[in-house]
Amino acid sequence: MADLSVQLGEMSFCNPVCLASGTAGYGPEVASWYDLNELGGFFSKALTLEPRSGNALPRVCELPTGMLNTIGLANPGVSRFISEQLPGWEELKTRLFVNVAGSTADDYVECCRRLEQAPRLDGLEINVSCPNVKQGGISFSADLGDLAALVRRCRETTRRLLIIKLSPQVTDIVSVAQVCADEGADAISLINTIPGMSIDIGSRRTRLSTGIGGYSGPGIKPVALAQVYRVARAVSLPIIGIGGISSAADILEFILAGASVIQVGTYNFVQPDAGRKLVKELDQLCHQLGIEQLSSAVGTVELPVTTA
Ligand SMILES: Cc1cc2nc3c(=O)[nH]c(=O)nc-3n(C[C@H](O)[C@H](O)[C@H](O)COP(=O)(O)O)c2cc1C
Repeated sequence: MADLSVQLGEMSFCNPVCLASGTAGYGPEVASWYDLNELGGFFSKALTLEPRSGNALPRVCELPTGMLNTIGLANPGVSRFISEQLPGWEELKTRLFVNVAGSTADDYVECCRRLEQAPRLDGLEINVSCPNVKQGGISFSADLGDLAALVRRCRETTRRLLIIKLSPQVTDIVSVAQVCADEGADAISLINTIPGMSIDIGSRRTRLSTGIGGYSGPGIKPVALAQVYRVARAVSLPIIGIGGISSAADILEFILAGASVIQVGTYNFVQPDAGRKLVKELDQLCHQLGIEQLSSAVGTVELPVTTA
């Protein structure tokens, strides 16, 4: 067996395979398919200070190259999560993270503060990249001053691992990631969904209630890889790679590009036991390629040898 253990900064993971926020609920949804402890880590659906019912239906749509969603951060709110879901996490050994969202910086900070008391939590993933809400979300990625202030305040509030999840929809992803590093973030998650649209030509109606939603799945993988590659070369923060992963080869591409850990999102809807399957396949692939220690492959991609 290959050594699949990886490090995200100082935190160790038994393997790099984590489930992405919003695609696997709060844990019990997956636990009926397989043991969550087989995963490197688990990222919860976004939590906000107050409960949210989300956007109107239809809010998901399948495409040949992935899917669109406009869930709109539907969630029970942080207090209900702490009292109802979090106790179920106490027995788990896998790395556990809560995805935090909000409309204002105060919302994010108060959410982080309440979660600080949670006994069994490895870190927070601050979602400044949701394209499907009118306030907050992606607007924090667009203004570097707002982003800096938000990351600083979250850093002051939590002693847990602080991960900032960025949108690819910015002019210069390196400067956005650098702001997170400067303000004390521990890691970067790349990428969230990309704005996208689909139209039913018969009815001349958009397939999502909000017209435009977030595009995810295999079609966004090249975009995600490019962002991971650029940030890994320029910013000294560990990276969690996300976007269109549906095979062990996809995982290895992200690792070579510079990600230390990865998340699987849309593929969970295709294959409910995706996490477990990918861990097994990754072990076989490393064996085939003679990779004894996966962590040694992080960021080792090279450009092709060119001829004149
Ligand atoms: C239905 C759905 C809901 C999502 N909800 C969240 C969320 O609550 N918070 C978040 O940060 N990302 C959310 N995402 C984005 C995913 O975590 C991931 O970044 C994105 O889908 C790209 O990965 P993928 O191509 O493997 O799906 C959601 C994605 C989908 C498809």
